[in-house]
Amino acid sequence: MENILVVGGAGYIGSHVVKMLAQQGYQPIVFDNLSKGHLAAVKGYPFEKGDLGDKTHLSKIFQKYSIKAVMHFAAFIEVEESIEDPSKYYHNNVSRVLNLLDAMVENNIPYFVFSSTAATFGNFKQEKIDETHLQLPINPYGNSKLMVEKILQDFDKAYGLKSMVLRYFNASGADDSGQIGESHTPETHLIPRILQTAAGKLPSIKIFGTDYPTPDGTCIRDYIHVNDLASAHILALEKLVQTHQSDQFNLGSGIGYSVAQLIKVAKEITGIDFKVEITPRRKGDPAVLVADSTKARDSLNWAPKYNLDRILETAWNWEKNRKY
Ligand SMILES: NC(=O)c1ccc[n+]([C@@H]2O[C@H](COP(=O)([O-])OP(=O)(O)OC[C@H]3O[C@@H](n4cnc5c(N)ncnc54)[C@H](O)[C@@H]3O)[C@@H](O)[C@H]2O)c1
Repeated sequence: MENILVVGGAGYIGSHVVKMLAQQGYQPIVFDNLSKGHLAAVKGYPFEKGDLGDKTHLSKIFQKYSIKAVMHFAAFIEVEESIEDPSKYYHNNVSRVLNLLDAMVENNIPYFVFSSTAATFGNFKQEKIDETHLQLPINPYGNSKLMVEKILQDFDKAYGLKSMVLRYFNASGADDSGQIGESHTPETHLIPRILQTAAGKLPSIKIFGTDYPTPDGTCIRDYIHVNDLASAHILALEKLVQTHQSDQFNLGSGIGYSVAQLIKVAKEITGIDFKVEITPRRKGDPAVLVADSTKARDSLNWAPKYNLDRILETAWNWEKNRKY
């Protein structure tokens, strides 16, 4: 059984990847400082509590377990906070990652899978974003992720470290089991906020702008189920091991849904007519943002399985019976 170190594995996306790795015959080893993650999300898997900044600890782990590859999810993820406190983001999302990469090179760990983001593209020049789109982030969070993408290109050339960069659009939904799901503090993502409103935990859900040039005037985004992201990670890892070639992929469903559409489907699925408030546009929100994931579909043989109904059903199931 091959050991995969999952850094940030106690977080939302990492914990779903941990579960799928185990289902597919890998041995995930979780490394997380639990600053944002949840131990309950990775119950039953080997767990090492530690910080990315601690190179000695990372080296010890590389020596203790025979690690085949590292999957890296650990980061701070709030765009607004990154604008207010960029130092916090550059330290955690860049310099500590550099630390991890150095430890990998020193210990001859050859493969790295990196969580990047659609935020590396910045202001979008076209509605469907493929891998050739210009990357010009507009906030420190996006910058921090793009910096690591560049570091990875240089580490490949200089030290032969091979990586897969996976740029997610809007991660959403929860595992079908209802045992793990999305739990951020604060929660800024739209689907959990809609469902927390349905559950009576928030007073209302705000729509920021109904005057966008879209069919119903609300912003359109691409929602991709967290287990579809997990399957892409494993396919990307297998491709990396097979080809020994670094690569980048945009991961989304390729289908855009508007905020108003999401709210309508959420009302149908929950059976609750929760309160919706219309407010003016927020700064910096593009009207439409949808992934072109043709490359991942063709090259990784990846096909997302969850549609919007399943995303909302699994997220609602989690919201009603949250374990953490
Ligand atoms: N959620 C999304 O929609 C989305 C979209 C695009 C990209 N991403 C990227 O995916 C990754 C995972 O996102 P998520 O939603 O699961 O976030 P999350 O906050 O749920 O998980 C991140 C995990 O990393 C851990 N962590 C953070 N800093 C650490 C450090 N210095 N040392 C050790 N552990 C540390 C946290 O405790 C947490 O468990 C992030 O890198 C994020 O930028 C997420």
